[in-house]
Amino acid sequence: METGTSAGVVVWLTGMSGAGKSTIARALVDRLQTFAICSTMLDGDVLRTGLNSDLGFSEAERTENLRRVAHVAALFCNEGFVAVTATISPEPEHRENARRIIGGNSFVEVFVDTPLDVCEKRDPKGLYQRARRGEIPQFTGIGSPYHPPARPDLTLHTQGNTVEHCVDCIVDYLRRVRSQDLGPAGEQPPVSASLRVAIGAK
Ligand code: ADX
Repeated sequence: METGTSAGVVVWLTGMSGAGKSTIARALVDRLQTFAICSTMLDGDVLRTGLNSDLGFSEAERTENLRRVAHVAALFCNEGFVAVTATISPEPEHRENARRIIGGNSFVEVFVDTPLDVCEKRDPKGLYQRARRGEIPQFTGIGSPYHPPARPDLTLHTQGNTVEHCVDCIVDYLRRVRSQDLGPAGEQPPVSASLRVAIGAK
C-alpha cells in the first residue's frame, strides 16, 4: 500500500480582493480540522490588523508583508501543519519569494481565478467602489496590477462552482500530487499519531 506523508505543507492562495481566497481558506481549514489534521489559516486582512499593521500597499510594503506571511507559514509548516494563506500576493516575485522561504516541496501555489469584473460585482467590502472613486489609490486591479501565476500548481474557478467544490479540488491535489496523508478519498482520515497522544486515544 502506498503510504502518504503527514509533513507540513503551505497552501498559498493568490488572487484579487473578492476572488474568494478567505472563504476557501476558511472552508479548507474547517474541513481539515474536522478530519483532525493540524491546520491553520493565515489571512492577509487579519494579519494586517496585527503583525503587519505597520505596512501599507506600496510595492515595497507588499513585499515585506508577504515575506512575513511566508515566514509565519514556514514555521507552521515545519511543525507539520497545513498552513493555508490567503493574500493577494499580486506579483510573481512575491510568490517566488514565498516558495524560496517555505521550500518548493512544501509550497503549493493555488490561483483563485476570479475575473476582475466578478470580484468588482461581489465587492464584499465596498473597496472596489471606493477605489473607483479614487479613495484607494493603489487598489489591486484598479490602480495597481495583479499578475496571475503563469504555472500555478492548481487553478480554482470560483464562478459557477461551490466553495465545497474548490475545497475538494485542493484536498484532492494534496492527496494525489503531494501524497498528503489525508486518508482515502471520501473517507475520514485516521487521527494522526500526535493527535492520538494529545487526546489520549488508544
Ligand atoms: S497583498 O497585496 O500584500 O498580498 P493582502 O492580501 O495582505 O495584500 O491584503 C489585501 C486586503 O487588504 C484586501 O482584501 C483588502 O481588504 C485590503 N486592502 C486595503 N487596501 C488595499 C489595496 N490598496 N489593494 C489591495 N487590497 C487592499
